Amino acid sequence: MTEQQFIPNPDSYKDDAKTLESGKVTWESPSNIALVKYWGKKKDQIPENPSISFTLTNCKTITTLHFYKKENTNVFSFDVFLDNKPKDDFKPKIETFFKRIELYLSFLKDYHFKIETTNTFPHSSGIASSASGMSALALCLMSMEKQLVGDMEQTYFNNKASFLARLGSGSACRSIEGDLVVWGKHGNIEGSSDLFGVKYPYKVHENFRNYQDTILLVDKGEKQVSSTVGHNLMHNHPFAQERFKQAHNNLNTLMGILESGDLNAFIAIVESEALTLHAMMMTSMPYFILMKPNTLEIINKIWSFRKETGLHVGFTLDAGANVHVLYPENEHARILEFINNELVAYIENGQYIADKIGLGARQVEFR
Ligand code: DP6
Repeated sequence: MTEQQFIPNPDSYKDDAKTLESGKVTWESPSNIALVKYWGKKKDQIPENPSISFTLTNCKTITTLHFYKKENTNVFSFDVFLDNKPKDDFKPKIETFFKRIELYLSFLKDYHFKIETTNTFPHSSGIASSASGMSALALCLMSMEKQLVGDMEQTYFNNKASFLARLGSGSACRSIEGDLVVWGKHGNIEGSSDLFGVKYPYKVHENFRNYQDTILLVDKGEKQVSSTVGHNLMHNHPFAQERFKQAHNNLNTLMGILESGDLNAFIAIVESEALTLHAMMMTSMPYFILMKPNTLEIINKIWSFRKETGLHVGFTLDAGANVHVLYPENEHARILEFINNELVAYIENGQYIADKIGLGARQVEFR
């Protein structure tokens, strides 16, 4: 597929599009956690390397898009509310998003929108809401497009929703479907694309069924360096080319692991990816560190516990200080006990989020 296929044909909108004078659509869309990381992008949010993620279940954004047909079709017009309160500081990001996707959704300037959004995770948790938020908004807009066109295949709907979400925030394109999603062209993964995320198309061992992700909220403050700035620092980064090659290789190795269910090998790849991501930050110019002392305390505790017990507990990190503790469902009881007894001391107000691999976004209503 190319970008061209997502540009609507001007004749494709139904004549009775008047049925879409006004209405509302609601989607809930999850966050996702990358196993092989996206870090570094080209123009138009094209990733430098392929990535793969677990779609989550409980960390999600619920967005209602109200739409009203309007007269002046020269400008974008929208209001944004977070938890029922006006949220004007979201507006520039959404305006940029609308500009980027206008070519692909030609009805955008025909409507005034009221965007109401809420997250299931605390705002200041350090958990990025851009993946779940941008995917939820992209899906609401796709539901409108589907209504205007009259008929649309599910695969096209999902691919285009992911394509649009990518233009909002790269990782958002991996939040449409579950339970494992690949984004970025990889020679050995059929259907993989730089333009949108696709469901991982091969068999996955049952060891990964209901895989658990307990998110330890180490630092709830604002990030000092945004992901976008971090991605840009991969331009002219001394290790960039090696890193992009490594991501291809790690994804290749992970494919075998997903099939065999080798949990020790899984942990080795995933932890190495997390530390490499942070190593890229520490070796860029300017350099920066997003881990906190407690991030390292937790990592060391996980390593000791794993050595003592032989249980399959591992970690990954996002572009922040929080630790995602990953483990199989059948070891859940003992690992949760370990988290409660030994890790909770290192997290702010003892707060963690119990999450697990999930099935993707869901339309809640359209009327
Ligand atoms: C570290 O998707 O937040 O979470 O495309 O600039 O919006 P933009 O960046 P974003 O980057 C997330 C990077 C990461 C790794 C990953 O999710 O693969």
